Amino acid sequence: MTAPRKILVTNALPYANGPIHIGHMLGYIQADIWVRFQKLRGNECHFVCADDAHGTPIMLKAKQLGIEPEQMIAEMNQAHQADFADFHVAFDNYHSTHSPENRELAELIYTRLRDHGYIKTKTIEQLFDPEQKMFLPDRFVKGDCPKCGATDQYGDNCDVCGATYAPTELKNPKSAVSGATPVLRESEHYFFDLPAFEGMLKAWTRSGSLQDEMANKLNEWFESGLQRWDISRDAPYFGFEIPDAPGKYFYVWLDAPIGYMGSFKNYCDRTGAADFDTFWKVGSEAEVYHFIGKDIIYFHSLFWPAMLKGADFRQPTNVWAHGFITVNGTKMSKSKGTFVMARTYLDHLDPDYLRYYFAAKLTSRIDDLDLNLTDFAQRVNADLVGKVVNIASRCAGFIQKKFDGKLKSELADHSLLDEFQAAGSELATLYEKREFSRAMRDIMALADKANFYIAEKEPWQLAKDPEKLDEVHEICSIGINLFRLLMIYLTPVVPALAERVQGFLNDSFNWDSHRELLLGHAIEPFKALLQRIEMEKIEAMIEDSKTQAPTSAVTTNGELEKDPISAEIQFDDFAKIDLRIALIANAEHVEGADKLLKLTLDLGGETRQVFAGIKSAYAPEKLIGQHTVMVANLAPRKMRFGLSEGMVLAAGPGGEDLWILNPHDGAKPGMRVK
Ligand code: MSP
Ligand code: ZN
Repeated sequence: MTAPRKILVTNALPYANGPIHIGHMLGYIQADIWVRFQKLRGNECHFVCADDAHGTPIMLKAKQLGIEPEQMIAEMNQAHQADFADFHVAFDNYHSTHSPENRELAELIYTRLRDHGYIKTKTIEQLFDPEQKMFLPDRFVKGDCPKCGATDQYGDNCDVCGATYAPTELKNPKSAVSGATPVLRESEHYFFDLPAFEGMLKAWTRSGSLQDEMANKLNEWFESGLQRWDISRDAPYFGFEIPDAPGKYFYVWLDAPIGYMGSFKNYCDRTGAADFDTFWKVGSEAEVYHFIGKDIIYFHSLFWPAMLKGADFRQPTNVWAHGFITVNGTKMSKSKGTFVMARTYLDHLDPDYLRYYFAAKLTSRIDDLDLNLTDFAQRVNADLVGKVVNIASRCAGFIQKKFDGKLKSELADHSLLDEFQAAGSELATLYEKREFSRAMRDIMALADKANFYIAEKEPWQLAKDPEKLDEVHEICSIGINLFRLLMIYLTPVVPALAERVQGFLNDSFNWDSHRELLLGHAIEPFKALLQRIEMEKIEAMIEDSKTQAPTSAVTTNGELEKDPISAEIQFDDFAKIDLRIALIANAEHVEGADKLLKLTLDLGGETRQVFAGIKSAYAPEKLIGQHTVMVANLAPRKMRFGLSEGMVLAAGPGGEDLWILNPHDGAKPGMRVK
């Protein structure tokens, strides 16, 4: 026996300004399955998380709700914890980055970095909202794209042409908070000297332990050159004030990963279940793993290990990224009802279904993963209900009725049982390597064998002949044991189902339970262990999601406040714009363009080709045959994909929240709109 490993696992901390949705759940479920597997094996494994409670969006959201940020984050923390618990994501501790432990650790790490010479200051210019008296993060400035002129674009990149730029380059910039025109202001900022850690980060990248995709990303970043990282923000800001710099706050991403340590510290102090320093000191033999989504690799693979190194703490053993969830093939969308919050899912469906489906698709790689809701129902019904639970339901009745609820004490035929038991070591390797999809495939292949065995032996036929009862007892006892072995292997994935099965079998599972069989053992009467998924439940969840999902991230009071009415014009100014009714004769995807659809607009005589940034809101086939309104006399513009000869009119903030205009019936292509 080797000594149990000491392991600390974290998953990325969810922001405290919105509810948990099923996209988030992918990472939490992945990490939870891995943790449950480690615990089942008898390793010392601690799983901690927290709400990520700081930053401008959280400060503004609380302001908009008219409450203190502390109150908002406390309420959100409760809601998040309830969502995780109900999905059977079993954290050993759930804390907040806005906590005394985290403040202490953030100050300690910052002070050490400063004393070691890794903190520099520099005065920079930034856009400032003169009405709200605050500096504006890029996402809180909107204006016209400096490259293509598209209106209503964010301060960091253009949704229409894909250009990236600094917020200071936007034309007609407006604060998304107040609508005021921002002004440039100077301020001294604090920077972390990331380039000083290039050697260490390169060595880590070459160590061969990182996911390939992550190592590739790191290499790209090394090639384009590491930059110093701006870690300070000016008041007003919701966060921790920098100890030696009044009015300056730690940028949310500085204290967010420290929140992993803060939560662990709180857990150690509160429960005594582990010793903080044993896990975090340099040279620690404990293992530390961070599960994260692919969008935050930069923070976890560069800044975080470098910060730890510079502040004399150990670095993570590994950082494991996963891909993003799409639903029914596209980005989750409120209007399609596929932006499903964790709570909405739980109102309709058993969490083990989603846990199994994610497990059946997850690999150790960073690929995106589609939750196709029809496939989801079919897969869960076929595998969990049709294959696994079916084994028990075919055998349990005979054990109950004919054998007083007792399994046979000796079995003659061990061939299948041996095979199922032997599979344990390969399955353990697959769990360890996060190859859950292969583990599920192997388990289901075994389930097929068990079902085939029972179907071939036909105990229901034999049971008619009193002479053959002993054979029936053997077959059904083997069947129940095969079922038990499969359920031991599935325990990390479907913990609530596994609980019910342990009740039914009068048994208690750990990973090593697969080395023994249940012989001469009394089991309970069989009760339905798992319901099939009904499509109506999924449809009801979709319907609810259309109304329950939160609306867009940047929230201000009214549309006019976000985007005030422009300066007055004369009729002649308006008359220069030639608006025409157009028939959308064709609409298609554009190879290589994330945002654009290519429209062929029929003006009742001539056609125009227009590239419109509406791909995230409309499927092309839905548009064909519809009438809309276009600017017909706009100078043609050359785009990377071809010439765009005009523009269609649409309202909304962008993304999936975009609505093109549609005239009432009767308007004919080519008619002037005036
Ligand atoms: N607060 C930061 C993380 C700080 S970690 C020190 C953050 N929060 S988040 O709420 O936006 O995301 C939390 C986790 O959910 C991240 O790992 C993120 O990648 C993941 N996901 C968010 N949407 C997702 C999908 N649609 N699909 C899969 N994972 C997704 O980032
Ligand atoms: Zn643009």
